[in-house]
Amino acid sequence: MTIDHVRIFDTTLRDGEQSPGCTMSLDEKLAVARQLSALGVDVIEAGFPAASGGVADAVRAVAELVGETDGPVVCGLARANDADVVACANAVAAARRRRIHVFIATSDIHLRHKLRLSRSEALARARDAVAAARSYVGDVEFSPEDATRSDAGFLMDVLAAVIDAGATTLNIPDTVGYATPVEYENLIGRICALAAKTSGVVVSTHCHDDLGLAVANSLAGVRAGARQVECTINGIGERAGNASLEEVVMALHTRSDHFGVRTKLDTRELMRASRTVSSSTGTYVAPNKAVVGANAFAHEAGIHQDGMLKHASTYEIMRPDTVGADGSSLIMGKHSGRHALRQRLAAMGYVFDDERFRDVFARFKELADRKKVIGDRDLAALAGVHAAAPPGWRLLQLQVTCGTHLIPTATVSLESPDGATRLASSTGSGPVDASCRAIDSVIGDTGELQGFTVRNVTEGHEALGEVTVRVKDFHSPRVHVGRGAHTDVVTASAEAYVDAVNDLLFTREAIALTPSRVSEVSV
Ligand code: KIV
Ligand code: ZN
Repeated sequence: MTIDHVRIFDTTLRDGEQSPGCTMSLDEKLAVARQLSALGVDVIEAGFPAASGGVADAVRAVAELVGETDGPVVCGLARANDADVVACANAVAAARRRRIHVFIATSDIHLRHKLRLSRSEALARARDAVAAARSYVGDVEFSPEDATRSDAGFLMDVLAAVIDAGATTLNIPDTVGYATPVEYENLIGRICALAAKTSGVVVSTHCHDDLGLAVANSLAGVRAGARQVECTINGIGERAGNASLEEVVMALHTRSDHFGVRTKLDTRELMRASRTVSSSTGTYVAPNKAVVGANAFAHEAGIHQDGMLKHASTYEIMRPDTVGADGSSLIMGKHSGRHALRQRLAAMGYVFDDERFRDVFARFKELADRKKVIGDRDLAALAGVHAAAPPGWRLLQLQVTCGTHLIPTATVSLESPDGATRLASSTGSGPVDASCRAIDSVIGDTGELQGFTVRNVTEGHEALGEVTVRVKDFHSPRVHVGRGAHTDVVTASAEAYVDAVNDLLFTREAIALTPSRVSEVSV
């Protein structure tokens, strides 16, 4: 049996960049394009060239950077008019393999209220623009915007017309995330039957996540015969976003028994792609995000930790290295059980007989009721080795300057574990980044800030902000959580960062000093 190839069309740089707050500079776009190429996506939609000179330049730069013969197809978006098609053709010209993606709305809602066109006018524009695009490139995609709310008969007429005009891919957008999986599967099935009449026409999905169904709908489309999926890294995109690339790809990979198709992506590059997009757009990935979230391979419940320590397949359907994640981790908190605690303490060098361990476990549970995450410093204190959590670095002072015309700069004063005062300054992309960098200049080799959440713990102008950060050790898969609370969120962030770094440094030291290291709890 031959296994069908599903093409992955990444639109992070076009639909993804359209999401609020996700604008990227040229360098950031190029970094994303480079990583998409390393990931092995089939098509990169690099932008909408008619939108502005800057966007056209960025599409051109992406085409020059990754558009070599065996690289991804570089695609640009165009409305169904000559000027857009020409702008697009020029912008993608440098790529060996290039595509023009023409779209026009086909739903009565869009035709009446937005375009003020009749159905026949829209059909003529679609057909003419596809024919114009074909005069520049051999690879032309057509999208009937708002397809899932369009009259099905009219939609089929438009699609038949654009196939005649030379469209090679029919992309079916669920523009407002309205369809359900069964509806979308049926629609794609009908369109695949139409496309099958002309050789070489590929049907594609393009689903938005307004009802949280984007990935489910895309997969339903694949079940019905779609052989291209349009998606974005981290699911960024207009409003609730697009189908998340990493979720679609890992669903097809993990459940190949069910879908019977394959992608040609190197899934080990997924985590790096997620981090590149997160840092380029400045949007953090939710910890519980499937595949690439910080908790995607973290286990806290005692029963789960016990299972994981016996065999990872008990609670993991993918191995972390398959997606390029650092490893699984067992988080110590109020849901953790005896087995995981014993293992963690052993990894830190603390081995107890059963009676002592019962006492340590009881005190651990007591502390866990008060504190969300128990770090290694807390465990050391619990183990009775130290009367209290061992001393770490302490934030004494923080001074930050930032503003619309200033480079964010932070100066920190820290007290070292042995009581010395140390001072450093740094600039950064924002006040929090500058503060963390200044702290790093004092402390040295720490880790990577991977997560940052702020919440109000009191109300009003003097509201106390609580910041939680997650810092991954540069030298191990462990992620350390730190917390800080202050009326000033930048100070709270710096406190949280120092808290996480203290835990990180303590763990490093404890593991280095452990004579017979049993095994790291990271499994
Ligand atoms: O969501 C949508 O309809 C689109 C089209 C332009 C493909 O992004
Ligand atoms: Zn879209």
